Amino acid sequence: MNRTIISPSILSADFANLEKEVKAVKNAGAEWIHIDVMDGHFVPNITIGVPVVKSLRKVTDLILDTHLMIENPKEYIKPFAEAGSDILTFHYEACADSVSDIISRIKDAGKRSGISIKPKTDAREIIPFLDKVDLVLIMTVEPGFGGQEFMHDCAMKIPVIRENAPENLIIQVDGGINNITSKICTSLGADSLVAGSYIFGHKDYELAVKSLR
Ligand code: DX5
Ligand code: ZN
Repeated sequence: MNRTIISPSILSADFANLEKEVKAVKNAGAEWIHIDVMDGHFVPNITIGVPVVKSLRKVTDLILDTHLMIENPKEYIKPFAEAGSDILTFHYEACADSVSDIISRIKDAGKRSGISIKPKTDAREIIPFLDKVDLVLIMTVEPGFGGQEFMHDCAMKIPVIRENAPENLIIQVDGGINNITSKICTSLGADSLVAGSYIFGHKDYELAVKSLR
């Protein structure tokens, strides 16, 4: 089995010191950086946009794992790709009728593609796209805010995706991940864990990252 990919969500980092925070989680052993983009429409919160990705790209070589919680993701693939995102994950609910087109746009931009589903979306709805994407992001909280409680039912989507996916598809979970819920997800077949408040709220990031594996 491959090593679990840890992707700290900078939503819970100190925004006044992002460069320092990103370097600290890299030193702590994290492989990716999770960037939560929210537009105040698809979700009720507003967070990070293209300029922040551009700035982060200059100060880190970690994989920039970009989670687009936005309406109309199609319009934003190119700007985020050009800013330096490595993975572009969009929400199925935001574009159910144009999923294939968006995946093609991400591929054409030379980036890895991810499709994400909210807690109320049935995992079986995205089965037709599993051989077209690099990653599936299963939300284990309602998207919009950090620090929410893990929804156990959502983790049961992991085996549904795994059973229907090509072997190299990365299954990622996001929301309420800590040293206990991480084990539930990896034992069900998750390859990548997003964690925000657990890592950035810990006084020792290295210990936090280690305890997730
Ligand atoms: C929620 C975001 C998450 C969030 C996770 O909408 O997609 O990435 O930052 O935060 P925690 O790990 O605190 O639940
Ligand atoms: Zn996220």
